[in-house]
Amino acid sequence: MKNTTGSFAAAKRNSEKITMLTSYDYTTARIADDAGVDAILVGDSLGMVMLGYENTLRVTMQDMISHSAAVARGASNALIVTDMPFMSYQTSVRDAVQNAGRLVKEGGAEAVKLEGGVKFAPHIRAIVDASIPVMAHIGMTPQSVNTFGGFKVQGKSLAGAKQLIEDARAVEEAGAFAVVLECVPAALAAYVTQILSIPTIGIGAGAECDGQVLVYQDMLNMTVGFTPKFAKKFADVGAVMTEGFKKYIDEVKNGSFPSEEHTFKIDDETMKAVTEG
Ligand code: KIV
Repeated sequence: MKNTTGSFAAAKRNSEKITMLTSYDYTTARIADDAGVDAILVGDSLGMVMLGYENTLRVTMQDMISHSAAVARGASNALIVTDMPFMSYQTSVRDAVQNAGRLVKEGGAEAVKLEGGVKFAPHIRAIVDASIPVMAHIGMTPQSVNTFGGFKVQGKSLAGAKQLIEDARAVEEAGAFAVVLECVPAALAAYVTQILSIPTIGIGAGAECDGQVLVYQDMLNMTVGFTPKFAKKFADVGAVMTEGFKKYIDEVKNGSFPSEEHTFKIDDETMKAVTEG
């Protein structure tokens, strides 16, 4: 059954957990959709896990549109939420609405996600007024990495916790249909979940959120180097891929691939005519 923003609201009402995973391409979106995930996030994390950048800041609208459109072709039941990249909405409310519109029209997004709380409430309101559902994202917002001085847990101090609560209330008031809480202490995320009427989707924010989201490469152990504490490995796809790639290399080198079963045939007669001119 097709998931919509209405399904998110119903899940919160019925205390059913919401599942969201990232995807950035047609094949992975199909697999995640077939597995039954409620929503697919075409995250700007694609800058890091697909394009090899250090952070998300260099991701462009064109990157988001191409990847989102591929995901939209692959997923039929999951709600497709596409990230607004850095500087696609921060510059003005008008830019925010225009670029959100492009993600829907050219990228097949069914909702957009943007980072920020109180300061971006007018942007959220204007996008929602243009009939585009918005998922907000507060706490550790990766596009502010240079302001935070790194990817650090947010809301640990009294002032930080109060700010998070204010941000959460502001995005709800502005019309967001859900809010991602990233890298926030579990007790604070539980409190925010309790006071909001829209669903909270946690990533590094404990078990009390209304739903969870993870970057698929993290949860399938496909990333190299640092992975965050919250990224549980649900399968070792990285190891399976390495094993498959190594077997292929060995079999090509030793001549056992391709064997007859993977080879096309031609009549002996025809072949004879070819070689004899
Ligand atoms: O870009 C992304 O993948 C995200 C998630 C980490 C929530 O924003």
